[in-house]
Amino acid sequence: MADIKKHGKEWFYSKIVKEHFFHPKNMALSDKDIELIRPNGVGEVGSPACGDVMRMWISVENGKIKRCRWRTFGCTSAIASTSMLSVMITEKGGMKLEEAEKITAKDILDRLGGLPPNKIHCSVLGDQALKAAIKDYRKNEK
Ligand code: FES
Repeated sequence: MADIKKHGKEWFYSKIVKEHFFHPKNMALSDKDIELIRPNGVGEVGSPACGDVMRMWISVENGKIKRCRWRTFGCTSAIASTSMLSVMITEKGGMKLEEAEKITAKDILDRLGGLPPNKIHCSVLGDQALKAAIKDYRKNEK
């Protein structure tokens, strides 16, 4: 019984995680959603921990991320984390690329109110896809 209690506690999802999972922000539901933001950077990563995949498109103007879209085969935690990340990088007029590059999984977890310990790797997926998209943007700008 004690084990069940412990297990249940480890799988606790915060209210914020549930909100972002049930109502994900900036998720690409169709190719049209992606076209509308006229992306100038795209990044894709796979998770070595679970094999899931994340792709992110960004639209950069004057060094700031104005819009983004993402799509994943990932789980609840990956969806909630990337939804939150997408809000963080586009709120208040858009985040500067240099700041977005410094975002860590911990920053996302703090905004989400945490994740179950064995789901931390899922929060890294969106973060890495974003960094790959920024790299792609910089390459395209040369
Ligand atoms: S288990 Fe694969 S992203 Fe969460």
